[in-house]
Parts: sequence; C-alpha cells; structure tokens
Amino acid sequence: MQNDRVSGLLQRYGPYALVTGASEGIGSSFAEELARAGMNVVLVARREDRLHTLAKALEDRYKVLCPVIKADLSNAEELDELLQVTNSLEICLLVCNAGFGTAGTFLNADIQAEMNMLDVNCTAVTRLVHHFGCKFKHRGKGGVVLLSSIVATQGVGRSAHYAATKAYVHTMGEGLQQEWQGTGVDLLIVAPGPVETGFAQRSNMRLGRAATPEVVAHESLKALGRHRIVRPGWLAKGMALALSTAPRWLRVKIMSSIMGSMTQHLSR
Ligand SMILES: NC(=O)c1ccc[n+]([C@@H]2O[C@H](COP(=O)([O-])OP(=O)(O)OC[C@H]3O[C@@H](n4cnc5c(N)ncnc54)[C@H](OP(=O)(O)O)[C@@H]3O)[C@@H](O)[C@H]2O)c1
Repeated sequence: MQNDRVSGLLQRYGPYALVTGASEGIGSSFAEELARAGMNVVLVARREDRLHTLAKALEDRYKVLCPVIKADLSNAEELDELLQVTNSLEICLLVCNAGFGTAGTFLNADIQAEMNMLDVNCTAVTRLVHHFGCKFKHRGKGGVVLLSSIVATQGVGRSAHYAATKAYVHTMGEGLQQEWQGTGVDLLIVAPGPVETGFAQRSNMRLGRAATPEVVAHESLKALGRHRIVRPGWLAKGMALALSTAPRWLRVKIMSSIMGSMTQHLSR
C-alpha cells in the first residue's frame, strides 16, 4: 500500500519522523508506512525490546534509520529527556499516537489508572505538540498527526473519561489548525472507529468489526496536508455519517449504547 501522496512525505517535510506508541498497533503501522516512504523514524514507547525488533526490520527492509527511545510518556522526567535527546535530530513530522483507553463506569474505575491515562493521552500530547510545533513553525514546515477517535465528538457513557481525553486532543487540534494557517505546518486529526490492535483488550472492550492498523496509517498519511480530519476505514466513515445529522444528546445516547454493548461483560 503506497502511493505518491505518501511517498512524497520525505520531500515535503524532511528526513525524520517521530512516532509515539510505535511498539504495537497503529503506531507500528505508522512507523512502517513512514519508513516505506523513505523517512527515518524515531520509535518511542516503553517496551524497548519490541521497538528494537521493529527498528531492525524497518532498517533492513527500507534502508532508513530508526533510533529507539524508551520512554514512559506518563513520566514528566522521561518526557523531558525524550525532548532533549531528539534535539540533535531534524524531526519534521510528529505522530502523537501513544494512548490507551478505559471502560466501565467512572466511579468504579481505578483513579490512578485514569490519571495515568490523562498524562499519556493529554499531558504528553500537549508537551510534544508545543515542543515540536515551535520548531516546525520556526522552520516554516512540518507535520503533526493527532490520534483522536470516533468517541471524541460527544460524551460516551461507560468510557466517559477516555472519550473526554480524546475530545481534548480533537479540540486542541481544531484550534491549532486555525492558528497554524499559513505557517507551512500541517496538522491532521485522525478519528478512527474500532481498530484491530491490543487496544481493546487493554481497555477491556470487546470490538465487533474493526479496521486494520495498516489502513489507519495509510489513509492518515495520505490525508496529511490535504485534509483536516480523516476517519480511516469504512466503519468510521459510516458511523460518522450516520451520526452527523443527530443532535448532540442523541449522539451521546447512541454512542453510550454502542459502548454498553462493547462492555457488556463488565459488571460495572
Ligand atoms: N484501537 C482502536 O480501536 C482505536 C480507536 C480510536 C483511536 N485509537 C487511538 O489510537 C492510538 C493507538 O492505539 P492502538 O489501537 O494502536 O493501541 P495499542 O495497540 O494498545 O498500542 C498503544 C501504544 O501506545 C503505547 N503506550 C501506551 N502507554 C504508554 C506510555 N505510558 N508511554 C509510552 N507509550 C505508551 C504502547 O507502547 P508500550 O506499551 O510499549 O509503552 C503502544 O505502542 C491511541 O491513542 C488510541 O486512543 C485506537
């Protein structure tokens, strides 16, 4: 899966991309797609062994460089270190992909896990986008990809806090798109529906139909610089279309009912 739009990323932005959450799922697919387009890719996540395995595979296959950085993005010191060690690299494209979800009723949730999710899904994204956004603006070019979700555009019962973290990212992305007009810096919001990755198991959700991570990465990189938002795969597009004319209160009901069926196995 490759076309000119994706293969032109190196010429459009520059030599290095950075992908957070590259050890698995959508992030691994972003890394592969970027390496295939000839970009060097900095791979970031906590599981270093998986990052090294991916780095070796991509370096052998596409003859690019894939530096590995082990970082827990919920840890402010490790995040600082990540920003420092990447200063020597000409990073031109940032994919803020790392994230996780929780499901079940909020009052029964483990509050430490919820606060950790806020750190990874929101705080780390804010710091990364500010840090690299300043560099890109100064350089007059760059690309930022933010992982939102179909749950971001209304409240969702039984995943209330996760949906709120994605609403944060989505809303910030929309505002930055306005602020960055004419700067040469592109920002894409990616709002997938269910995707076949380790996400559902970790979030304790049961997905029915789902898009593949390869489709999410490919459609997103094709859309970067052309569109403001992409909903990869037919399921996300269909769900967004079906919800588009519904008032917000009805969208909340519908999405909460879908989440209810995805978390039926949980007593809470
Ligand atoms: N799958 C879906 O249905 C779906 C739908 C809409 C949006 N999304 C969004 O897409 C993004 C990627 O999800 P995915 O489906 O690919 O999930 P995944 O397969 O569970 O992968 C999540 C990635 O995030 C990394 N990560 C998690 N916590 C981290 C931390 N504290 N520090 C550094 N890295 C961390 C993980 O790496 P380590 O564990 O090695 O650190 C892993 O590489 C997320 O932002 C998610 O919200 C997913």
